This record gives sequence, C-alpha cells and structure tokens, in this order.
Amino acid sequence: YEYGELAGEPRMYTEILEQPSSVERTLRGRLDERFGTAHLGGLNLEPRELRAIRRVKILGCGSAYYVGQMGASLVEELARIPADAEAASEFRYRNPIIEPDTLYVAVSQSGETIDTLLAVEEIKRKGGRVIGLVNVVGSAIARACDGGIYLHAGPEIAVASTKALTTMYVGFALLALQLGRVRDLSIADGKRLIAGLQRLPAQIEEILKDEDRLEEVAGALAQAESMFFIGRVRGFPVAREGAQKLKEISYRHAEAYQTSELKHGPLALISPEVPTVAIVPDDELTDRNVAALHEISARRGPLVVVTHPEVDLGDLEAARVDVPKNEVELDPILLTIPLQLIAFHAAKVLGHDVDKPRNLAKSVTVE
Ligand code: G6P
Repeated sequence: YEYGELAGEPRMYTEILEQPSSVERTLRGRLDERFGTAHLGGLNLEPRELRAIRRVKILGCGSAYYVGQMGASLVEELARIPADAEAASEFRYRNPIIEPDTLYVAVSQSGETIDTLLAVEEIKRKGGRVIGLVNVVGSAIARACDGGIYLHAGPEIAVASTKALTTMYVGFALLALQLGRVRDLSIADGKRLIAGLQRLPAQIEEILKDEDRLEEVAGALAQAESMFFIGRVRGFPVAREGAQKLKEISYRHAEAYQTSELKHGPLALISPEVPTVAIVPDDELTDRNVAALHEISARRGPLVVVTHPEVDLGDLEAARVDVPKNEVELDPILLTIPLQLIAFHAAKVLGHDVDKPRNLAKSVTVE
C-alpha cells in the first residue's frame, strides 16, 4: 500500500501496512551493489572523516530512542566502532562530555521533539558534529544538524510510531554499512547486507500477511493486566519497543526486561496471569534464550515466542510467531513488525482509539 490508499482504517493500521513501500523509499538510490556499500550524500562527510570517527552516540526519545539502541548494535557489529544510544532528554541534562571524534546521531520522525533538538544544540554549542536521521524534511532538527539521512517514510500521523521506526532502522543499516566499508567490513559482507536490505520489503509483506494469527495472539494478551516483553542483546531493544507500543495504545502494563536478567527479579512475578512475549532471534544466543523460557514455562507463565522458523523450541509450550530470516544483523527489524500488529489488535479488541492514545502527543515540542 502507498500513503492514503486505505482510507477509513485507523491511521496506525494503514501506516503499519505501508512499511514495505516506505522501506523501499529509504533504500532507493542509496545502495552501491558493485562496492557493497551505501551512498549517503547528505552526511557531508568525506571517507577520511568517516574513518576518523572513534565513537557513535545516538540520541532520540520514545521509539526513536529504542531504534537508536538497535542502530548502535548495527554500528558496532558492522563497523566495529563503539556505539550506544541514550534518551536525548537525559543526555542534555547531565553535562555530557562532547568529543571531537564522536559522531552524534539525532533520531526523530517529526524533527521537532524538543529534547532531541536541545540535545543537538548542546552538542553543537560544544563543537561536536551531529547528523540527523529525520523523516520530516526541513524540520528544526534537520536544520540544526550538520548533515543527515532523510527517511522518506512519508507522513506519519498516528501517535504510535510504526513506519518511521522501520525506516530509521534501515537508515542505521545504511550508515553502519558505509562506516563499515571505510573500515574492515569486507566487500563480500557489504554485498551480503545489501542483498539482505533488498529482501526486507518482501519479507515485511510476508509478516503482514500473518495478521489473523497475530490478532489471535493479541486477543489472548489483551486479557492480561500485566505482561513482560523479553529479549537479549539484539532482541532487547525489540522487546522495549514491543512493550512501549502495547502499553501506549492498549493501556495494559507491559515491562521490557533482558532475558538474561530474568532470574534477578521478574521471575518472582511469573504466574499463569502474567504472560511473557519473548524475542528469540536465530543467533549465537538462541539456546540460552530457549533455556530461560523453560524457566518461565516451569512457573506456568504463558509464553508468546517471536522467532524464526529455523529456531527449534523443543518441547516448550508456547504460542509461536514466526518471521522470515534475513541476515542476522537485520533480523531485529523483522522481529519488531509482528509486535506492532499485536499492539494494534490488543488495543482494538479492548475498544480503544489507537490513533489518539490518552495523555500522549505525536510530537512533544514544549518542555
Ligand atoms: C512521542 C511519540 C512517540 C515518538 C516520540 C519521538 O512521544 O508519541 O511515538 O517515538 O515522541 O518522536 P520523534 O518525532 O522525535 O521521533
């Protein structure tokens, strides 16, 4: 679907369904198949300057912050540059140390979020270099940055961010690819990732076709007052985003936790009344993840496992949601998509207006 094609449906729903085409737009003209790299002309950085970057610091609020955490993993994995994400609101109030060889990345759909904008201005005041990953062209954050990547997601109206988030992820993949290819990422790995990026729209389409199954899972989750979303390493920001989406539109309590930390707290709360949505990528941690899920199952906690068909859950009792596999670095975005539809259907079955969640604004432009 393209923008506006599904008139009459809730905006959040139409925006979820637009993702195959919005991702395609973010990629358009930016892939260099021959050299296995990305072209991001708007960064305004020469290869020499890209190579001089020693650290990447990502700033955003809400979903933009969570996708920033996913982006930090991409940069570390592909470019082997230390990277982390922080809530812009926290960063700017703690007198941050601004380093000349750090690349600061401001992430924002609207480009108007006040905390992110003021973080950019604080960095610039101290002589730092900031690029933007922004959807709205000419917005305040886009203008304040030294360069950046426009997302081309198209207008996003629903308060809960969906298609902007997927395009932000793709923006980070392009950035990580370019940073990686001026360093030690091989041309073969670059090409492998490009092929993976090109597969994303069709794979997202495939996940969206599984809507009936996701509606069923959402219906069961909506009955619970409180639930956990868990994941580790690549899967943890996915869990955070899933919990955020569910709580902001369904008003059910959802807490994200690292799967590895379960035994240090949340296990105490597991019971037949408290379901857990577990994100289980097919990676080097799969066995450990599955072992942790048995701990939940042993305490009769209902489980929803978002994973790939290749993952063997053994005799684990769980409702399973499978998404197609891509390259391991790109799987987090595929694991995020079903969580959007689960949140949407949970809110719908509870009778809430998904486009106008109470107490929330699309962009927070005043302090
Ligand atoms: C608000 C919205 C969120 C969004 C966040 C950041 O809290 O409700 O959906 O993720 O702002 O917005 P931005 O426009 O900066 O991405």
